[in-house]
Amino acid sequence: MSWHKSDSSAVAGAILRSADRNDFSKSRALRPKAHELIPGGAHTYAKGDDQFPANAPGFIARGKGCHVWDLDGNEFIEYGMGLRAVTLGHAFEPVVEAAYRQMKLGINFSRPAKLEVDLAESMLELIDGADMVKFAKNGSDVTTAAVKLARAYTGRDLVAICGDQPFFSIDDWFIGSTEMNAGIPQAIFEMTLKFRYNDLASLRELFDQHSGKIACVVMEAEAIALPAAGYLNQVKQLCEERGAVLIFDEMITGFRWHLGGAQKFHGVIPHLSTFGKALGNGFAISALAGKRDIMRLGGLGHDQARVFLLSTTHGAETHALAAALETIRLYCEQNVIEFLWRQGERLRTLVNQSIAENRLEGFFELLGRPCNLVFATLDQDRNRSQAFRTLFMQELIRRGVIAPSFVVSFSHNDADIDRTAETVYEAHVIYRKALDEGIGKYLDGRPVKPVNREYN
Ligand SMILES: Cc1ncc(COP(=O)(O)O)c(C=O)c1O
Repeated sequence: MSWHKSDSSAVAGAILRSADRNDFSKSRALRPKAHELIPGGAHTYAKGDDQFPANAPGFIARGKGCHVWDLDGNEFIEYGMGLRAVTLGHAFEPVVEAAYRQMKLGINFSRPAKLEVDLAESMLELIDGADMVKFAKNGSDVTTAAVKLARAYTGRDLVAICGDQPFFSIDDWFIGSTEMNAGIPQAIFEMTLKFRYNDLASLRELFDQHSGKIACVVMEAEAIALPAAGYLNQVKQLCEERGAVLIFDEMITGFRWHLGGAQKFHGVIPHLSTFGKALGNGFAISALAGKRDIMRLGGLGHDQARVFLLSTTHGAETHALAAALETIRLYCEQNVIEFLWRQGERLRTLVNQSIAENRLEGFFELLGRPCNLVFATLDQDRNRSQAFRTLFMQELIRRGVIAPSFVVSFSHNDADIDRTAETVYEAHVIYRKALDEGIGKYLDGRPVKPVNREYN
């Protein structure tokens, strides 16, 4: 059976064309209350008002497949769903059923559930080179746990992170290194050092400057830039020569690049790796996987100092484990990854045609792998432009597409992709005019802003 031929998507084109997306009254009424009650009006900065154009729907009421409906009943095709966590689709029946079945059996007991072992086994079959795994709720928690484990294992304090990659954790060791570091003591962020991606010399320099003090190297094997030939292997070799732990953050790449993660895709096995997002199709579940000699420090039955590793009240809620087991099963059974790459490629081809037809080469660019497409927007002087990003998103939203990225899911069928491409074409027509005549005439509200900035 092929799950991606979902009921909602089959009629997508017709519904979207006839939808009346003029009424946002309920969303508009709720917005001030949200900001009064919740700092930022939302629980994730990336979902905040400052990340979307003024005409973006304020609140989502429900989703099905790759479609969402806002509070006023307006329908949209959505991309990058749930910050890339919802890889199969919203309310994806088999996953919801698996979680629900488990919820009726209880979600949290005084002793572990068998599901913890089942999911560990299922996951470790896919992640080459990992001998043990520990589950948690958030990506940040497992990446921070990997850093703590590396520090304990090496007896060192410093952490080297890839400075060209945007995010690893909400915790102080990482956020301290960003623009938005209020509230974090300098002593904490002085322990985090940055190297450049694809620049082995910059990492070697850190190891030389801080000889014997770097506990670990934290990086995504690949984000938007592709690794130069041999680079990842050289990073691993350097880590091993200098006695540091190599940690791959697979939050985005995991279950997207390859079933075995970007590490399998590139054939470079780190000592520890962290997963989240796609692991549970949006259910809160993340994982720290790695070599036994490091991971075991968080366990029983050794005589070294004990590492407090990911022990939380909700860490192994059974319904999230059941959702992850079912998600992994579907990934294997349905060739989900192949589908993500194929649909991304279909979209890329169509968007590139639109770029050419609207003479937008060098002004609008699609970047990244087909399974993880993002776009860059540049102004008339070919400088990166948040205003043009806002304009593009504004025109998509006006036509029924919410796209902070073009990251596809298993629910984006051909009709959704083709409808999106038509919408992109129309948005590109406006983009071209804005380049020629000035953006002021076309942009309705204030531009979006980067999340990590010092001041509002
Ligand atoms: C690469 C990467 N690592 C870690 C995280 C943190 O994951 P979480 O938001 O689940 O804490 C994110 C979140 O966006 C991410 O993109």
